[in-house]
Amino acid sequence: MVDVKSICCIGAGYVGGPTCAVIAYKCHNIKVTIVDLNQARIDAWNSDKLPIYEPGLEEVVFDRRGKNLFFTTDVDAAIEEADLIFVSVNTPTKKTGMGAGMAADLAYIEGATRRIAEVATRSKIVVEKSTVPCRTAESMRTILEANSTGSIHFDILSNPEFLAEGTAIKDLLNPDRVLIGALQTPEGISAQKSLAAVYQNWVPEDRVITTNLWSSELSKLAANALLAQRISSINALSAICEATGADVDEVAYACGRDSRLGSKFLKASVGFGGSCFQKDILNLVYLSQQLNLPEVADYWQQVVIMNEYQKKRFVRKIISTLFNTITNKRIAVLGFAFKKDTGDTRESAAITLIKDFIDENAHVAIYDPKVEHEQIYMDLAEPGVVDNRKQLEKSISICGDAYEACKGADAVVIVTEWDEFKSDQLDYQRIYDNMHKPAFLFDGRLLLDAAQIREIGFKVHIIGKNE
Ligand code: NAD
Ligand code: UGA
Repeated sequence: MVDVKSICCIGAGYVGGPTCAVIAYKCHNIKVTIVDLNQARIDAWNSDKLPIYEPGLEEVVFDRRGKNLFFTTDVDAAIEEADLIFVSVNTPTKKTGMGAGMAADLAYIEGATRRIAEVATRSKIVVEKSTVPCRTAESMRTILEANSTGSIHFDILSNPEFLAEGTAIKDLLNPDRVLIGALQTPEGISAQKSLAAVYQNWVPEDRVITTNLWSSELSKLAANALLAQRISSINALSAICEATGADVDEVAYACGRDSRLGSKFLKASVGFGGSCFQKDILNLVYLSQQLNLPEVADYWQQVVIMNEYQKKRFVRKIISTLFNTITNKRIAVLGFAFKKDTGDTRESAAITLIKDFIDENAHVAIYDPKVEHEQIYMDLAEPGVVDNRKQLEKSISICGDAYEACKGADAVVIVTEWDEFKSDQLDYQRIYDNMHKPAFLFDGRLLLDAAQIREIGFKVHIIGKNE
């Protein structure tokens, strides 16, 4: 078993950054170097304004940076020095070629793996941290073995990450479980123990689960698919609630009180977003198709279909309520991030909604407390359109606060569940007073106290409710 003293993490993103910063925070005797090819990202990690917003992250990074935590673009030096290397690069859905729109693009994994093979002059433990299709570790092994020199030995582990954005530091400090998959050979099991020992600096032993490599890889896709499936299930029920007068929060509560079901992840919404749920389910769908299991593929595909339906259903509701036209109307969108407490906008429902509003010739006023304005322009830009920015500026305005966004609006749409949008945090009377009448409010997050808001005079629609 290797006593890990030096760790390199390839990929300084939403996972690599927080995960390895927490390892440095909890293991002062281990030198942790996080590397990336993106100079701007590394510069930001080395500055006062970190490249990602995550509650508690600054405390962790500022505590260890320059002591046993380092951020650099010198990938080769960090690989060379490390006993153990996390590969935490992006694995987006392929845009072109075989499996386009479904399969994971493994080019970044392959690039990082080839770099390790070229640079390493001694044996290493290589850990898949990225979410990858089942059996990716086999491809990594083939690449490493074919390109390494002499008697260097590589052990490959799968150690998928289960943190959720917005609660990443909390999740990392106190995980439900840490999963480590390895080949069930003496070397594989020994490497598994080496990584387990790192985590056991702060994670209780019974929360460190060890499995074979393929179970570990598949468990990550399975966990995300099951979580997303719950959201699509409650969202499907929200449509029934709106049609029948049942209340989706009451239904979720009543079902969640069954200890076999549990209460978490049953919050109806305008649709799940984030960089991973859709990507990982599509990955599972593709895997099922490749394994000639079309019924299994269709089963999981339906989770994504339901999510798209939920977004479109919400847009249709808004348009029909506003007398079947939103042309030239001002729609205030509160929230652009895919969930609260993050500045991440990847696959955010807000993007789909706003693009639909723009297509209907509405003017969209957007406010989000954490998302950078540039990011909003980038997310809403249509590929191939010249002068995208100028076009967009005619259709949207990005506002400094909720009051500015809602001023003169015909409708307010809550898309992200930021605490500051709650009924007792925003002055909804002030918002109402400055809106066109009738003043409509659409709550896609079940955030508001509807009775209180209605009393002000708003015409309110809340997802999953028909009051
Ligand atoms: P990200 O895009 O934020 O970060 C990936 C980083 O890797 C980028 O900064 C990129 O420049 C860098 N990179 C790519 N190739 C490189 C190379 N060869 N050498 C050095 N750097 C390289 O992605 P992320 O959100 O951190 O996700 C990473 C992986 O973790 C994905 O597989 C994702 O599915 C998985 N995951 C993400 C989350 C999440 O909450 N975001 C949670 C669990 C798992
Ligand atoms: C999710 C998983 O929760 C993590 O365990 C996993 O590691 C991660 O994906 C990943 O692999 O990337 P994340 O996407 O960061 O984490 O955030 P979630 O809290 O899962 O929320 C995802 C989306 O579902 C958000 O848009 C959220 O608003 C929505 N959601 C969540 C609901 O609509 N209802 C709910 O009850 C819960």
